[in-house]
Amino acid sequence: MPARPVAGLLKMILDAQQLSNAEMYKILIGSVTPRPIAWAGTRSTDGSNNLAPFSFYNCFSSAPPIVGFSVIPRPDGRKKDTLQNAQDTKCFTLSCASYKLVKEMSKSAATLEPGEDEFVYAGLTAAEALHINAPYVAEALLVFECELRQIISFGNEPGSGNLILGEIKYIHIDESVYDNGRIDIEKLDPVGRLAGNWYATIRDRFELQRG
Ligand SMILES: Cc1cc2nc3c(=O)[nH]c(=O)nc-3n(C[C@H](O)[C@H](O)[C@H](O)COP(=O)(O)O)c2cc1C
Repeated sequence: MPARPVAGLLKMILDAQQLSNAEMYKILIGSVTPRPIAWAGTRSTDGSNNLAPFSFYNCFSSAPPIVGFSVIPRPDGRKKDTLQNAQDTKCFTLSCASYKLVKEMSKSAATLEPGEDEFVYAGLTAAEALHINAPYVAEALLVFECELRQIISFGNEPGSGNLILGEIKYIHIDESVYDNGRIDIEKLDPVGRLAGNWYATIRDRFELQRG
């Protein structure tokens, strides 16, 4: 039975099909918020390290432990290095972006040429994952080593996502945030993405220009 509007609670109805890509994006990033940040470390087939943040990110299963993040093409339509590397090497790391690393996280989103290292550019230390061929952020308090499970591509339009799903194989946890089997989120102090230049901590929100 079609839903009937409740008196006094009538909402505006937007037809998603009628919205432009840019309009839909704005609605989504304001609606699904705050979004956690996957700080993805990958390696190219020629051995270059790569690091970039992605806020279309979440976990989807705990047995097996599955996390996923989505990569949209660059504005000029080119594929981002993270997607290319994950397709090639079938693995990636995800480092947690704590508040104390937020400036470095933002800097690592710079569009560098393949082969240029965002770890160096952002002033971070690249550490070697123990069991997969990918680097992670040594300064991060929590890191997942993931093997690629599946990539689901949603098309070739501007804004079309490529959902990268990975299975967590190893977890690196700084002792300071590990409390008897639980993660102490106050000490982890993760940052989430809102819209525009706005971010959220678990206490408050703040603005940070990209770069
Ligand atoms: C906080 C933050 C979140 C981001 N989230 C996404 C995202 O979910 N998907 C995406 O494609 N790009 C996202 N970006 C942009 C990428 O980080 C950026 O395009 C980066 O240069 C990609 O790097 P790569 O070419 O080395 O993969 C985000 C940037 C920032 C600063």
